[in-house]
Amino acid sequence: MKIILIGFMGSGKSSVAKKLKHLLKLPILDMDELVLQKTNTNNMHEVFAKGGEGLLRKTELSIAKEYASVHHHIVSTGGGAVMDHEILQNLKGKDGIIFFLNASYEVITDRLRDDAMRPLAKSKLETKSLYLLREPEYLKYADHVIDVDHRSIDEIAHEIADNSK
Ligand code: S3P
Repeated sequence: MKIILIGFMGSGKSSVAKKLKHLLKLPILDMDELVLQKTNTNNMHEVFAKGGEGLLRKTELSIAKEYASVHHHIVSTGGGAVMDHEILQNLKGKDGIIFFLNASYEVITDRLRDDAMRPLAKSKLETKSLYLLREPEYLKYADHVIDVDHRSIDEIAHEIADNSK
């Protein structure tokens, strides 16, 4: 079983992955963490300072290729992974199931309001245009769309677990 979580920054991918890890007894592959390891950086600002968004996407792609044939994992992607078809294609492999954590723009902005760690969520205008650009991409790749607004992490994780059997 390979569960791939996609969705905008702040949609809850990391928290849901942690819950699923306990529910399904599967390890997590956290793409953002692996990007930091591979680029020898401490946070996303350093990744962007080192090589811009290009370095992020290039590193995400090499991780996706490296883990293409790995099974029995929960993959927590970065919000922008869907902008490169090859990343998602590699992550999905033959039997990956892609779950889109669908949060409304209002919920996202509320969660990202005081966030200083996400270089691509600097201004409201930028966040809004990214949200509009990516929404169709998430829907395009999703095997399941999971609405997450005003629902607990527990509830969301159970819905995913039920749909991954
Ligand atoms: C990004 C999302 C972040 C991280 C980076 C870029 C994006 O991941 O990969 O800051 O392009 O949306 P999260 O979705 O885990 O915040």
